[in-house]
Amino acid sequence: MRDLVGKTAFVTGGASGIGLAIGRAFAGAGMRVMLADIEAKPLEQAIEAFKGNLPEVRGVVCDVRDYADVERAARMTVEAFGKVHVVCNNAGVTGSAGTDNISLQDWQWVIDINLMGVVHGVKAFLPLLKAHGEGGHIVNTASMAGFLSDTGFGAYTASKFAVVGISEALSTELEPQGIGVSILCPGWVATRISESRRNWPNEYGVPPPRGPLAERFAELVRNGMAPGDVAALVLKAVQNNELYVFTHPDMRPWLEKRVDRFLTAYRKLGAPQEMLE
Ligand SMILES: NC(=O)c1ccc[n+]([C@@H]2O[C@H](COP(=O)([O-])OP(=O)(O)OC[C@H]3O[C@@H](n4cnc5c(N)ncnc54)[C@H](O)[C@@H]3O)[C@@H](O)[C@H]2O)c1
Repeated sequence: MRDLVGKTAFVTGGASGIGLAIGRAFAGAGMRVMLADIEAKPLEQAIEAFKGNLPEVRGVVCDVRDYADVERAARMTVEAFGKVHVVCNNAGVTGSAGTDNISLQDWQWVIDINLMGVVHGVKAFLPLLKAHGEGGHIVNTASMAGFLSDTGFGAYTASKFAVVGISEALSTELEPQGIGVSILCPGWVATRISESRRNWPNEYGVPPPRGPLAERFAELVRNGMAPGDVAALVLKAVQNNELYVFTHPDMRPWLEKRVDRFLTAYRKLGAPQEMLE
């Protein structure tokens, strides 16, 4: 979407970190922005901070785990701004370290937000993007953990691999309809992600204890990239219709190692009989 001025963006996880920075970048580019988040107070403070120079930013409290709530947020966005053009399914949490030792509740919580939150956002907003015929764009926040399996966080990795898969499929499906898709794949970013547990809902039972990797993870996040730098790349990706939004060039050797691993296994099948076009 080349021309963003006057268009509308909806961003989940918009009260903090990457989502808030994306909201700022879009508003700075002349867009109207609806920030959605489960945390009412930080959301209110974020909206208050915009009021002076970027008044076209509003907020809606919304739990992305709940489809009816996401649909309600979609209706409120249309009521406030008339149309929606860009949707960022960004809300996310980390869950515990490990894979087989994670409780089922922990798995459920991570999947409900990181995966189903994206599914809900796409399902609720896609008809609205299609309806006005002005084109649109969906940004789904994955992670480098959507490509690298050895991060130490099994449920998180599973959810982010799923986000990459869904987004790639969507991109092929929506391209003929003038709707672009971007997959945001950051490495470490200095946000509140290592405090994800602040949003642990009681209905999942007692929150799991902080695992052995928690402190190391928090330190990497503290020293991570500024969210504003990530948001600038998202803005560019929406304008240029880029599918992959990679942010951390230093992670390239890990990516190459992974691709090499399955290419090596695949080549053992021998040369193809016929090259497929
Ligand atoms: N920070 C990093 O290092 C990093 C790296 C790669 C990917 N990411 C991804 O970036 C996205 C944003 O995370 P962040 O780093 O800005 O963390 P953050 O904790 O600062 O922000 C996440 C926001 O999501 C909100 N949220 C949580 N559960 C929600 C729910 N059920 N419904 C609606 N909102 C909810 C939180 O209240 C918070 O405002 C996540 O998807 C995360 O997985 C972060």
